[in-house]
Amino acid sequence: MKETIIFDVRKMTGDAVEWPELKSAATLLMAGGTVAFPTETVYGLGANALDAMAIESIYSAKGRPSDNPLIVHISSRDMLTALVSSISETAVRLMDAFWPGPMTLIFKKLPIVPDKVTGGLDTVAVRMPSHDVARALIDLSALPIAAPSANISGRPSPTTAEHVINDLMGRVDGIVLGDNAAVGLESTVIDTTGDIPVILRPGAITEAMIAAVAGACETDAALKASKGEQVVPRAPGMKYRHYAPNAEVTVFTGDTIGILKQFENAVEEASAGDYKIAILLFSEDLAVLNRLLAGNTAHVVLFDQGSVKDPAVFASRLFRDLRASDDCGCKRVLVHGMAEDGIGSAIMNRLLKASEGSVIRI
Ligand code: TXA
Ligand code: MG
Repeated sequence: MKETIIFDVRKMTGDAVEWPELKSAATLLMAGGTVAFPTETVYGLGANALDAMAIESIYSAKGRPSDNPLIVHISSRDMLTALVSSISETAVRLMDAFWPGPMTLIFKKLPIVPDKVTGGLDTVAVRMPSHDVARALIDLSALPIAAPSANISGRPSPTTAEHVINDLMGRVDGIVLGDNAAVGLESTVIDTTGDIPVILRPGAITEAMIAAVAGACETDAALKASKGEQVVPRAPGMKYRHYAPNAEVTVFTGDTIGILKQFENAVEEASAGDYKIAILLFSEDLAVLNRLLAGNTAHVVLFDQGSVKDPAVFASRLFRDLRASDDCGCKRVLVHGMAEDGIGSAIMNRLLKASEGSVIRI
């Protein structure tokens, strides 16, 4: 067990680079320590990207396979030029449009980036976050910060300070407690080393947004491959079972009335078997399901994912509610899915992984 120092900045106001807590957290990073911190996507677990020993501590704290490369976080374009050997015109356009923000770009790396960060690849993933705490920490340490999501490997990514404490207390040197992650899903990862940008992991910056800026955009074939097809994803992290709670997850897409009927049946089975289930559904469908259940609610926990008209709310609550389903002792989690467009692509990508492909079309 490590002694984990807590830096609570939730009540701080004003310019984050002036906060003594962040100055201390930055000192830990400069000394080769591991520090978890909030970003706009999910919480990250950071360490000096140029220090192979510090990177080693990230992998061991998370229990993460070391062939799964990390994203390097920067706060200025100057930091980028010190890490990569070339920056394509497409990359410049994307950076101008979406940095700082929930977008990670893949570049050819310079030798200064340790192989431990890139899992031996000749490319490096770089992101400039928009969160003021993340940026202040990078500025104060004056270091590029390698940071995967701050969860135990395989669990849903952390979107609240509490999630990080639950996963990493005693395993890392410091935790910065901040606000809940606004986006709630990890950044869009885009390969910019070829002529056309390729999405390796979908996120809040969507295919249409990228195509509008870059003229074209493709998505890694492995992400679209149906179950059973063997295509190896180009982002090594996408091949692992991921984002998963302990409960068994099933996703339903298609006709809403049919889906609600399935939910009703599952609740009946749960009460007959005397176990609990969780259901994640749109606000519009909550009242309808409650009518169908007619008071039979002792074995079900309902999670409101916001309006069907605003799937960004669904995105921001998904990981939180998957974790909460485990906390309630639910044996199964049933989710009302959605079409794979816009941010729906990212949501369905995470759900496909959490359910290990258990997606039922009604
Ligand atoms: O929003 C985010 O991206 C968060 C916050 C903390 O910034 N970070 C995050 O990191 O999600 P992580 O380690 O959980 O996911 C990194 C993803 C993995 O799928 C990894 O395989 C991919 O990026 N990746 C990293 N370097 C790569 C590279 N050189 N080539 C291809 N994929 C890469
Ligand atoms: Mg992760």
